[in-house]
Amino acid sequence: MILLTGGTGFISSHTAVALAEAGLPCVLLDNLANSPESTLQGLARITGQAPLFVQGDVRDAALLDSLFARYPIQAVLHGASLKAVGEGLAQPALYHDNNVSGTVTLIRAMERAGVRRLVFSSSSTVYGNPTLQCLPESAPLVPLNPEARSKVMVEQILHDVAASHPDWRVLSLRCFNPVGAHPSGALGEAPRGQTLNLLTVMAQATAGQRPPLSIFGNDYPTPDGTGVRDYIHVMDLARGHLLALQQLLQAAAPPDARHRVLNLGRGQGISVLQLLQAFEQHTGYRVPHQWAPRREGDAACWVADVSAARQHLGWQAELGLAEMCRDAWRWQGRA
Ligand code: UFG
Repeated sequence: MILLTGGTGFISSHTAVALAEAGLPCVLLDNLANSPESTLQGLARITGQAPLFVQGDVRDAALLDSLFARYPIQAVLHGASLKAVGEGLAQPALYHDNNVSGTVTLIRAMERAGVRRLVFSSSSTVYGNPTLQCLPESAPLVPLNPEARSKVMVEQILHDVAASHPDWRVLSLRCFNPVGAHPSGALGEAPRGQTLNLLTVMAQATAGQRPPLSIFGNDYPTPDGTGVRDYIHVMDLARGHLLALQQLLQAAAPPDARHRVLNLGRGQGISVLQLLQAFEQHTGYRVPHQWAPRREGDAACWVADVSAARQHLGWQAELGLAEMCRDAWRWQGRA
């Protein structure tokens, strides 16, 4: 059985679908701080059975102990983290408590239970504002804000932890820009706050559920002046997390690879304007939009070097812009 922290969040909930399809049972833990309970109904519709869910906080050591005692947990996917850049700047202690202390509490509970297989859902935010066109995992880590710093700190802690005991096996997956939704339309991005990804904002603006899309900046050093990202379908990420968990459950790691860091992206840079054009092409709707100044703290360009994930995980993205746009639109209820 797999414990999914942040179980009702965007990445963990879609991974729960991939696990169910692979026949791997899981228990979802989430404090519902940033995702709605209705995610559970979406999961039930897709998988045909109500997910095993525990409402609680990853910082609650006694709760974690009770979960490890009650369920035969073999590995953990740790996806419980706060991720709004602005909120992290305003409340750094909250972010470090939730993201860093939460991870330490989880690791200590895992050690008490003798469970030493962990997949950490990290993010491309650790690279800051890179100068490289294509980012290998060895690129410098230059976190620009507390949220990004918390991700770097967690990766470093995991590195120390993995070195401390021969049974530890940890994979940190640096997810690039997750977009799209489950193709059924029953599951998608549903944060409580305003931290929506660009494609969700685009779909909501097109559906008239919010004002026109503001395109933040037209003077970046990119081909059309708008920000470039490596967008990846959330179901591709879910499959990557599944493969990572399956790999950790297999043979022991060589001593030099107890903690491996892998980028999960498509390796293709797409600008805001290119995504807008793709959305219009694949949905048949015009996206109302306007130009706006750059958003503070935004990087010009993030694109993954994806060769390590292919080599070490046998994973590569399969879904393209058409699926991302159509599934995001279906989730918005207009397809
Ligand atoms: N953008 C707009 N208008 C909007 C929203 C976004 O023009 O209304 C632009 C941004 O300026 C950026 C691109 O669209 O160029 C993508 O923005 P997102 O907000 O979708 O995502 P970010 O690249 O800012 O990064 C987010 C999180 C990071 C995380 C990363 C990858 O903020 O912490 O996704 O997971 F690392």
